[in-house]
Amino acid sequence: MSTTIIVGGHFGDEGKGKIVSYLCAEKKPKVVARGGVGPNAGHSVVIKGKKYGIRMIPSGFVSMESRVLIGAGVLVNPNVFMDELELLKDFNMKGRVAVDNNCAIITKQHIIADTRSKHLTQKIKSTGTGCGPANADRVNRVVGLAKDVPELKPYLTDVPLEINEAIDAGENVIIEGTQGFGLSLFYGTYPYVTSNDTSASAIASDVGVGPTKIDEVVTVFKAHMSRVGGGPFPTEIPMEEAEKMGLMEFGTVTGRRRKIGKFDFELGRRSVMINGATQIAINCLDLMFPESKDCKTYEELPREARAHVEKIEKELKVPATLLGIGPEVHDIIDRRK
Ligand code: GTP
Ligand code: IMP
Ligand code: MG
Repeated sequence: MSTTIIVGGHFGDEGKGKIVSYLCAEKKPKVVARGGVGPNAGHSVVIKGKKYGIRMIPSGFVSMESRVLIGAGVLVNPNVFMDELELLKDFNMKGRVAVDNNCAIITKQHIIADTRSKHLTQKIKSTGTGCGPANADRVNRVVGLAKDVPELKPYLTDVPLEINEAIDAGENVIIEGTQGFGLSLFYGTYPYVTSNDTSASAIASDVGVGPTKIDEVVTVFKAHMSRVGGGPFPTEIPMEEAEKMGLMEFGTVTGRRRKIGKFDFELGRRSVMINGATQIAINCLDLMFPESKDCKTYEELPREARAHVEKIEKELKVPATLLGIGPEVHDIIDRRK
C-alpha cells in the first residue's frame, strides 16, 4: 500500500489525467485527492472513446470505490464543480466527492479581474478563470471559503483528516497535481507562471499531507512538449513542422492552440530534482512514433521510441515506468509489471 503523488514535469497538459486514472483503476485507492491551482487546469480522461474534460473534480473519479477529494490549496468555482457533478452523473459522485472546508472560492469578480487585466490576459496569457485574482485575495486574507457557500454544504469535508486516516490505516492514496513544473510560481519561468507552486511538495501541502508520508512521486512528461500561454519555450518548433509531425493540440479549458516543442532535457532534469521524482511517465509516444500505438510490451515498441525513452532516462536519471501509447486510460505500457 502506498501514497503516490502525480505531478506535471513540463508546462502542464502532459496527460496527468490519464496517468492518474490508470493508477486509480489499478490501485483502487481509498482516497484520491487533488491539489494544484484550480479550474485553470483541464485534465482529460478518455474512457471507451468518450472524453471527459474536467477542471475541478479529480481525474480519479473513474475509481468507483474511492473518495474523491479536493484539497484546501485548490481554488473552487462552485458553478464549475456543480456542472461537473452533472457531467459525471454516471460515476455515482454524490456521497464520495468532497471539497475541503478551507478551499478558497472563485467569484464572478475574480473572473472579471482576470479577463480585464491587460497584464494577465495579454502578457501572461492567463486562462481567464479568475485563479490569479482569487489567490491574490487569499494572500490578502479577504477571500471567501467553501464552508461559507450554502450550495457546497453537502460536499464539505476535512480532507487532511480523511487522507491521513487512510494512510494510517495502510490504504492506497493517490494525490494528483495539476499544471506543470515550468508553471510553478516559485520554480517556473516567472512571471510567465501560474498563481501557486506546482511542485510535488506544494501538491502534498495542498491536500494536507506531510512529506514523510509520501512513498512515490511520478513526474509526467510527454515524448514531445507543449506550452500554452505566454513565456519562454526554448525548444519550440514551428507550427508547420509540428503539424507535419502530426502534433497539434488544443487547450482543454480555453481551446487555445498549444505551442509544440522538442523534449527539454534541462527543464526535465530540474523538474525531477525539485519534484523528488521516483518514477517518470512519458505520454504520447504514439504521436512521435505511430507504430507504438498497439504495442503491448516495451520490447514491441519501435527502436526509435525505445531510444527516445532511454535517452530521457539517461538524462533525467529516473526510471520511466509508465509509457503512454494512446489517450485511453489503459493505453499504457507499464514497465513495473
Ligand atoms: P492539466 O491538469 O491541465 O495540466 O492537464 P493534463 O496533464 O491532465 O493533460 P490534458 O488532459 O490537458 O492534455 C493531455 C492530452 O493528451 C489530452 O488530450 C489527452 O487525452 C492526451 N493524451 C494523454 N496521453 C496520451 C498518449 O499517450 N497518447 C495520445 N495520443 N494522447 C494522449
Ligand atoms: P493562470 O493560471 O490562468 O493565471 O495562467 C497563467 C499561465 O499558466 C498561462 O500561461 C496559462 O496558459 C498557464 N496554465 C495555467 N493552468 C494551466 C494548465 O492546466 N495547463 C497548461 N497551462 C496552464
Ligand atoms: Mg490540461
